[in-house]
This record gives sequence, C-alpha cells and structure tokens, in this order.
Amino acid sequence: MERVGAIVTFPDFERLEGYFSSFKEDLVAVKTIDELNRIKGKYLGRNSLLGELLSKLRELPQEEKKKWGQKMNMLKTEMEDMLKEKYHVLHFEKEKRKPLDITLPGKKQWTGTFHPVLIVRDQILAIFRSFGFRVESGPEIESDFYNFEALNISSDHPARDDQDSFYLNEKWLLRTHTSPAQIRTMQKLTPPFKAVVPGRCYRRDAFDATHSPMFHQIEGLVVAPGISMGDLKGTIEAFVHRFFGKERRTRFRPSYFPFTEPSAEVDVSCGVCWGEGCRACGHTGWLEIMGAGLVHPQVFLNVGYDPEVVQGFAFGMGIERIAMLKFGVTDIRWFLENDVAFLEQFKTLR
Ligand code: DAH
Repeated sequence: MERVGAIVTFPDFERLEGYFSSFKEDLVAVKTIDELNRIKGKYLGRNSLLGELLSKLRELPQEEKKKWGQKMNMLKTEMEDMLKEKYHVLHFEKEKRKPLDITLPGKKQWTGTFHPVLIVRDQILAIFRSFGFRVESGPEIESDFYNFEALNISSDHPARDDQDSFYLNEKWLLRTHTSPAQIRTMQKLTPPFKAVVPGRCYRRDAFDATHSPMFHQIEGLVVAPGISMGDLKGTIEAFVHRFFGKERRTRFRPSYFPFTEPSAEVDVSCGVCWGEGCRACGHTGWLEIMGAGLVHPQVFLNVGYDPEVVQGFAFGMGIERIAMLKFGVTDIRWFLENDVAFLEQFKTLR
C-alpha cells in the first residue's frame, strides 16, 4: 500500500492538515472508480497514516485521547463523505457514457401498496362522507366509563363477557369496539350531526381464521330530532348499494345491544350465490356485515342529551370482515402476515 508520511509518533498529529490537502489533490485527479478505491485505501485504509494514528490513540493519556479522537474522527468522516460524493459523480458519468439501447426492456419501478384494510376503510369513509357524515376519532386506550358504563353496559352486565378485554389497570383498557367514540362525539358536538369514526380495537380473542386480537371497526352515529329506524335502513341500504353493488339486498334481523333499542344485525345478500345458499354464506344466502340500532335513551341521558328532544341511530362494522367479504379472503390472519404476494393483489385498487 502506498503511504503518505513516514511512521508517526503522536506529536506528528499536526501533519494531518497536510495529509488532508494531499488527499484533496489526489481526489480531484481521480478519473475512475478503481482509482477512487485506491485513494480510499491510501488515506483511510488500515495502513494509512490516519488508520495507524487511530489505532495508536489508545496509548494517549485520557485528555489527549479525547481531543485527538474527536479531531481525527471528524477528518475521517469528512474524507468519507467526499469519497462518497465523488463515487456518485463517477458512477453517474459512467452511466451517461453508455449508449442508449431503446430495444432493451424498461426498468420496472417497484412501488408499494396500500394495505387492503386501509383501502376498504377509505372506501367506506368516502361513501359516508358523500352522505354528509363527518369523520371523528377516539383514543385506543379507553376508560371503563367510555368503553362500557356510558354505553349502558354496567359492570355486571353479561354483554361484557362477549368482549374479553385487555385491561391496563382497574380503570383503563384497550377499547373493545369503536362505540366509546359515540360518547366522545356526543360530548364534543351539538346535534344535529352525522359522524363516522374508524379505528383499531382489541379483544382477548384467540387468533384464528375469523378472530384477531387487534382489528378495525367503523362506528356510525346520527343524532337529530325525529330520527327513526327508517333513516337507519335507508342509510345502510344506500351504503350497501354503493359499496357492494346495486344488486345486493339488505336484511335487518332483530338483535340485542345494551346501547341501542331496538337493535338489529344487518345482513347483505351473498354475492357468490345470490341468495341461493353456498359455502361462502354458510348456506343461508346472507352475510352479516354490522350491528346497528336506535340510540338507547339511557345513552343520551349519560351524555346530558334529552331523549325526548333528540333521537339517533348508530351502527358498527368490522373493517377486516367487510374486506374479507368484498375480496373473498377466507382467513383474517392474511391481513397481518405481511405476505407481499397477498398484499400486491390490492395494488390497483388505490
Ligand atoms: N359495538 C358493537 C360491537 O363491537 C357493534 C355495534 C352494534 C355498534 C350496534 C353500534 C351499534 O353502534 O348500534 O360488537
């Protein structure tokens, strides 16, 4: 290896300045990447003056070691940066000199994709936005009050058993649904309003084909004087037609939720068999897409609204479930596997 400068002892550190200017001179003269590599070895390699000094640093007393260590490392970084810059210049020039062969295939650009759950979330939100809904948000860490109490789910209510929760302590937990955002939205806004709230939810469920301990929901809430079940049905039907297609029918089945009365489970007709019954719909002709109902008067009282003055409807749907129905995904775990081949299928959708 070429050497600049003789074997050094520590007082020779001052010579580094000369070392740097000779490095710069050499660098300017460099014409090829091979030459550049040679310059790199000459000035920064293990046997270079700088390399040797760095390895000898250890022998210096503490104070000196610090002072020179800093100086030399700064110099080293600067030289490395200059080498990198020169590399890019040379590389670019080399590429430029290549004759352009327009018969070669183009270079394919790799692009990322949006996650299918996000795509579906945004499609759903866009539809409700077009209906005049505003988009609100709520925290993923909720208090017992917002997640249960205010929604008319008291501490001894059996509905709590359906939602095995991740508690952080006595009072706080990871929200088990987006419904607590109903309470927060009502506390924040004054009726009349229409709002949707997307977000992550958590339940202590086994991770299997249809359950995931972390999943997404979209909550809907409309509050105004005179809201009825007819408003709920019309809104959901319009949503289903926009999202799944005009030919799909909706069905409301009586159900129970503590925070709505009456409550319903909403089904959409199966898009595989058109209601005949097949494997996709469990031979029923229908697919469940959400829970819904008219806001329970007690919920209004809990946020200081007068249930004699305003009425409302609410609904909640799981985004993964809707995405599975829309795209025919049979296992919820696909959404969390990070399998590029799976995710790339949704590339063209947004
Ligand atoms: N929060 C319910 C759940 O997670 C879903 C739900 C049902 C939301 C009825 C609603 C509703 O707003 O009205 O299972």
